[in-house]
Amino acid sequence: MKNPIYVTQPNLPPLEEFIPYLEQIWDNKILTNNGPFHRQLEQALCEYLGVDHLALFTNGTIALVTALQALRISGEVITTPYSFAATAHSLLWNNIKPVFVDIDPDTCNLDPARIEEAITPKTTAILPVHCYGNPCAVEHIQQIADIYGLKVIYDAAHAFGVRYKGKTVLRHGDLSVLSFHATKVFTTFEGGAIICPDAKTKQRIDYLKNFGFADEVTVTASGINGKMSEFNAALGLLQLKYIDDALQRRRQIEARYRQALAEVPGISVLPVPPETKGNASYFPILVGADYPLSRDGLYQRMKDAGINGRRYFYPLISDMPMYRGLSSAKAENLQHSHQLSGHVICLPIYPGLPEEQVDVITGLIAKPK
Ligand SMILES: Cc1ncc(COP(=O)(O)O)c(C=O)c1O
Repeated sequence: MKNPIYVTQPNLPPLEEFIPYLEQIWDNKILTNNGPFHRQLEQALCEYLGVDHLALFTNGTIALVTALQALRISGEVITTPYSFAATAHSLLWNNIKPVFVDIDPDTCNLDPARIEEAITPKTTAILPVHCYGNPCAVEHIQQIADIYGLKVIYDAAHAFGVRYKGKTVLRHGDLSVLSFHATKVFTTFEGGAIICPDAKTKQRIDYLKNFGFADEVTVTASGINGKMSEFNAALGLLQLKYIDDALQRRRQIEARYRQALAEVPGISVLPVPPETKGNASYFPILVGADYPLSRDGLYQRMKDAGINGRRYFYPLISDMPMYRGLSSAKAENLQHSHQLSGHVICLPIYPGLPEEQVDVITGLIAKPK
């Protein structure tokens, strides 16, 4: 293949449509600090996502760190090792001890049946991830949180636009955190957001993302600078115009992959999550023992052909040097996570990926030699 294919490629609007937004910024000279585009994007995203309150952020990681601060989470937090490093890093940045719990291999999300045994008197919250946009076992998790008096903060970095039982998945838990990073379904280059249940919580979060300032002279907390700039917010407004088409296209590619790979010996895909309208943000495959190549063998074979998959999520967070000493990080505690992490490859999926290239990718996987 002449040009390499990457696991994702951002979906960008026509450049000429962005120029009027830039002209407006140049005219009014408001670059940040809750400017007009920032306010408009918060409103537009609430409407699009079906939520009541949302606070924009400079990126998803700062949003996660701030979400934990906003709810004054401390002690120990139960989370998944099968995620991007930022999930657990947000805990360390708050001096919180992550307690890893294994995943359900069908969803790649925290296994709710394993949560209770990990709760100690120091546990204050659960930080699950809607991995690949697959909804977590939200009802079961909430039930456990209610019994033990725990908060639930969802890392919803992958879950933009995901609907579960006919409603947005983002209303579950106490807070949900989105990422608008360049690799995400909806991107503002860098960006993120916290979905808040009420105006009071949003206000506290808005203070926290602005150094803790409530007004010119009142500083309410040792907040951080997590504000989204007008440039990113303007881009977000324009991106919203194209998001439905982009999601539709992703779902078509996902369907094509599922169909083409259904009969390939040694390759399996995750089950379609029940009662879910997904966002096809990732397309993971699992390379089994009966496939002619190992996972890394297939990964390399694809790479040699110019097809860049990604081994998401490998290594596991629990194997990273800053976490591997924790007792919950032991491999015997996390068998499904290790199994998946050792066999997964996420295939390229993005709105601009032509169908012929999807066919080339599945053709290579079906006949790797
Ligand atoms: C699951 C997960 N959580 C958090 C993040 C961090 O988001 P950001 O890159 O916007 O800081 C990412 C991705 O980047 C992610 O995939």
